[in-house]
Amino acid sequence: MAANIEIREAKASDARALNAYIKEIYGTSDHLITRQSEFRTGSFKQRFWISKKALHPSETCLLALRDGKIIGMLDSWTDMRARVKHSTSFAMSVKQGHRGNGIGKAILNHFILWVKKHETLERIELHVHSDNVAAQQLYKNLGFELEGTRHKVLRYEDGRVIDDHIMALWP
Ligand SMILES: CC(C)(COP(=O)(O)OP(=O)(O)OC[C@H]1O[C@@H](n2cnc3c(N)ncnc32)[C@H](O)[C@@H]1OP(=O)(O)O)[C@@H](O)C(=O)NCCC(=O)NCCS
Repeated sequence: MAANIEIREAKASDARALNAYIKEIYGTSDHLITRQSEFRTGSFKQRFWISKKALHPSETCLLALRDGKIIGMLDSWTDMRARVKHSTSFAMSVKQGHRGNGIGKAILNHFILWVKKHETLERIELHVHSDNVAAQQLYKNLGFELEGTRHKVLRYEDGRVIDDHIMALWP
């Protein structure tokens, strides 16, 4: 259940725990592009990355914590060129063992509210593997619509070739 969950922005002091969380996520999620062996960020670099997000006017890194432990994450990024800076993108995850309990929905709702408070942001975009049923259901439930598909851009280790869906919300 999403009860007893704290959702807040990441702080520099979360760097070590966040690094361990991300590494674990890459090893336990089939539907992410980065594989665990490709994640080489250390705690120092993570600290710097968190600090940059915290200072950025149009980006954030949100954490979901239970009993002080990170069990979910959403980070966003924005191309600040004038023609596209109204559109922001994000990626999210929930720790294995905590999925299907409403935590993803809680973090994403928190992020949508965060975007609404930022006047320069009007559109939220995401990319999702076409076979990621759980994620697509979550996004549809919260009002995201399919805008397009990049065909066969993802190749799994077992040879399966998958599409990449682009979904968006104008909150
Ligand atoms: C996708 C992910 C973030 C969803 O987080 P979650 O905490 O498991 O999701 P929630 O429990 O909040 O579920 C939200 C909705 O998604 C749907 N859902 C969740 N798991 C599902 C599943 N296995 N199959 C179908 N629908 C599912 C439900 O409809 C639920 O809606 P409801 O509130 O009406 O019941 C999580 O599964 C995850 O971290 N997966 C691995 C990483 C990943 O794929 N990230 C997304 C990349 S685009």
